[in-house]
Amino acid sequence: MDIFHIEGPVRLSGSVTVNGSKNASLPIMAATILAGGKSTLSAVPHLSDISVCSQLLGELGCKVTRGKNGDLCIDSTVIDNPVGDYEIVCRMRASICILGPLLARCGRVEVSMPGGCAIGYRPIDIHLRGLRELGAKISIKNGYIIAEAKNGLTGKEIFMGGPFGSTVLGTANVLMAATLAKGRTVIESAACEPEIADLANCLNKMGAKITGIGSPRLIIEGVKQLHSAEYEVIPDRIEAGTFMVAAAITAGQLQLHNCRLGDMMAVVDKLRSVGVTVEPADNGCIVARNGSIKPADITTQPYPGFPTDLQAQFMTLLSLAEGNSIIIEKIFPDRFMHVAELARMAANLRKEGPTVIVAGVKNLIAAPVMASDLRASAALVLAGLAAEGTTTINRVYHIDRGYERIEEKLNLVGAKIVRESI
Ligand code: EPU
Repeated sequence: MDIFHIEGPVRLSGSVTVNGSKNASLPIMAATILAGGKSTLSAVPHLSDISVCSQLLGELGCKVTRGKNGDLCIDSTVIDNPVGDYEIVCRMRASICILGPLLARCGRVEVSMPGGCAIGYRPIDIHLRGLRELGAKISIKNGYIIAEAKNGLTGKEIFMGGPFGSTVLGTANVLMAATLAKGRTVIESAACEPEIADLANCLNKMGAKITGIGSPRLIIEGVKQLHSAEYEVIPDRIEAGTFMVAAAITAGQLQLHNCRLGDMMAVVDKLRSVGVTVEPADNGCIVARNGSIKPADITTQPYPGFPTDLQAQFMTLLSLAEGNSIIIEKIFPDRFMHVAELARMAANLRKEGPTVIVAGVKNLIAAPVMASDLRASAALVLAGLAAEGTTTINRVYHIDRGYERIEEKLNLVGAKIVRESI
């Protein structure tokens, strides 16, 4: 198991290239199930979640390889075992996004129900409701979802809103299944996240007929079959946002390459409101802070609102603001595992239900802390960059799930992070 030792405070300066998006790559990898033949995906990051997804596709019968140039090649000519095994699904919840494409391609599928998760209860009722609307027969047995559509799926108008708005992977599942359904499907209250738009664009490249991409109303005209394709995944807006906060919290300046500011309006708006400058620059932007950090109120929302995947990182930033901030989590009301760890580093935080009141302090102070989930660990790395002394972060395998060599990238721009294997 690896740990990070982070010496702070530092001031970051230089340029960083943002990777391809993890959360776009995972459903797009699942989409290759529909394609048959050999698809080539570029800009898929080297992350442990991607390795788990590759293993999962391999278990189904696909051949997954990395080309010399880093491209991910997925040959889904043969799928002879349409089963998402518990051993893999319990390692990565996003495995659930094989459900829709496997059902559409094979007519019968068994996928383990995803279990508990560090960011709270995450039901999949809307995924199942959507697939049932398309005609699937679904039962739960021995912890597995068994979905059948022996005579294929049929298009329908489906409302996919839930108590917390739209669902990202639920939309992905139903969208993928609908590409091969008979007739027209309309998904109302679809997730508008750029990762879903990227999936839809990739599906269209594979021969699907999807319109309304990027809007809450996706219209899918079913086709008989899809074909393999070459596709480049969009940049990771959450990795980009994490680097933006890194520049801001260290009063530094970073130039981000491969970053689509248009996908990050809510984040950029919030950064500017707390005193950070964000200027567009060649295929990315320059992020800098000179003055103090101003307090802010943040409410997480589905896209285009402020993303829950940057809530923890912004909490670290606002811990050092001149005044009180309020953070309300409206996507995952229990996504606050980082609160207790940040408090160990002298952040002044008070949690009331899905809300945290952040009273800004002058300094954070290094401490040994525990990574609990992907984004919470990123928040602790950011705290370590700004804190006085050496912060030790345990269980950094959480951060390796979603950030490729984060310590190497940050060290190149002035961080002092040592990875130790124990
Ligand atoms: N929900 C339901 N029923 C469902 C599905 C979702 O009630 O059937 C609720 C969830 O409990 C939650 C809300 O709807 O309150 C939104 O959840 P969503 O389904 O959109 O989340 P997800 O698709 O499982 C993806 C990302 C998450 C990200 C969320 C929200 C991937 C692989 N995962 O999860 O990313 O936080 O959307 O944007 O794309 C991460 O990268 O760290 C991460 C957790």
